[in-house]
Amino acid sequence: MTEAEERRESYETPELHSLPGSVLARPPGLERRIAPMPRVAGWDVKDLAARFGSPLCVIDERVLRAAYQRLDAAFRAGWKDTVIAASIKTNYLSAVVAILRSMGAWGEVVSGFEYRLCRDLGIPGGQIVFNGPWKSDQELELAFHEGALVNLDSDDELERVIKMARARQGELRVGLRVGVELNDAPWDKFGFAVENDHALEAARVIAREKNLILDGLHVHVGTYIPDAGVYGRACEALIGLGLRLERELGVEIRHIDLGGGYASRNTLRHTLLPGEAIAASAEEYARAITVPLKRAAAQFRRPPRLFIEPGRILVDEAAAMIATVRAVKRVSGQQKAALVDCGVHLLPTAFWYEHEIRPVEDRGQAVENYRVVGPLCMQIDVLRESALLPALRAGDLLVIRDAGAYNFSQSMQFIHMRPNYVLVHDGGVDVIREREADACVRAPERLPPHLINAETRGSILAGGG
Ligand SMILES: Cc1ncc(COP(=O)(O)O)c(C=O)c1O
Repeated sequence: MTEAEERRESYETPELHSLPGSVLARPPGLERRIAPMPRVAGWDVKDLAARFGSPLCVIDERVLRAAYQRLDAAFRAGWKDTVIAASIKTNYLSAVVAILRSMGAWGEVVSGFEYRLCRDLGIPGGQIVFNGPWKSDQELELAFHEGALVNLDSDDELERVIKMARARQGELRVGLRVGVELNDAPWDKFGFAVENDHALEAARVIAREKNLILDGLHVHVGTYIPDAGVYGRACEALIGLGLRLERELGVEIRHIDLGGGYASRNTLRHTLLPGEAIAASAEEYARAITVPLKRAAAQFRRPPRLFIEPGRILVDEAAAMIATVRAVKRVSGQQKAALVDCGVHLLPTAFWYEHEIRPVEDRGQAVENYRVVGPLCMQIDVLRESALLPALRAGDLLVIRDAGAYNFSQSMQFIHMRPNYVLVHDGGVDVIREREADACVRAPERLPPHLINAETRGSILAGGG
């Protein structure tokens, strides 16, 4: 093969998506971006900001419950034995987890911290799926003891679990996280690859262990995967491997787990079309997974239970950030910049989403193109490179929509403290995470004795109050 031929990419059949009529009816990003939004979750934004401060994260319980209900109904319609194990890392505010749990969700955790959080909120170990590339021996022992479903991620982890299984009387049930090459860039840091038979080999090792039982197979194809077809192919891959393991190793595959990654309506940066135009619906994801499962059901020893581990599709749209314009700047030769009090430390998803930003006041039809920047002393603190907004002045409130996924859990205390997080529910509005005081950062610090002197003696760290 010549060098030129090698460089040429192989042909792939394009995938066609239908667009909702409403998307073509307007130029992308125009009126939708500037319609004022005086209320969030039914509450007056100005009142919320006056009561709880700005910036402020507002979570709408009704929207959260509706998202869960829709996904649950879509999957159960296709496969009755579906369990939603909500991805805890996507938003581990306790109130959010408690709401999802009250709807019936199990917890999907990837650390001891998340595991303990679920247990603290009353979720039994037997309704926790424990994933992640590294789990300590102590965490594994506790999870096994409490009946959690542990998905193994590596040979080293498998070896450690084999030792645990040999050291105890009863059997340990485990799942195997597998990797399937389905998307670009591949999500290949995790699990046992299917293509090179690494997964098959791991299953054989498990089958040889008297106390270790392979309960099921897990795959997580990536995050924000708008194409439901990827899930169809992932499901086919798990089915194919599962049936082969049942046939060749005599095991019973009791569950298959399709992980998370289902897209929300947020728009990815540098994409032509808004997220709501390209993201599959809950029903489309459900069909992509449950149709192949139904087709193959009779071939399994017993129809397996289906797990899904949704994150952003459940929580993204339930939260909004309220922010205040603190300055409007003109930079020579550039668009105007609106400096707001919510930065990427509270909204890290601004690095990959074009969050919809809406004014609160109705200022008519005239719009300007703003760069929306945050309050951090860092050039990269930019929420939107370009957003159409009405003429802004310092003091104006803005609403940044669909901010529920990964923003609290990846938020960073940097320069400013985290603000209040509130939940709007049928009974009113409650603070679910209080604005941080300086002590949240400083209290765990210690001043070593040799640094305590006349000046520092009065510090809270020297016991000086
Ligand atoms: C194993 C696993 N399950 C579920 C999720 C949730 O993903 P998402 O929020 O994209 O649905 C993740 C996130 O990356 C994950 O790693």
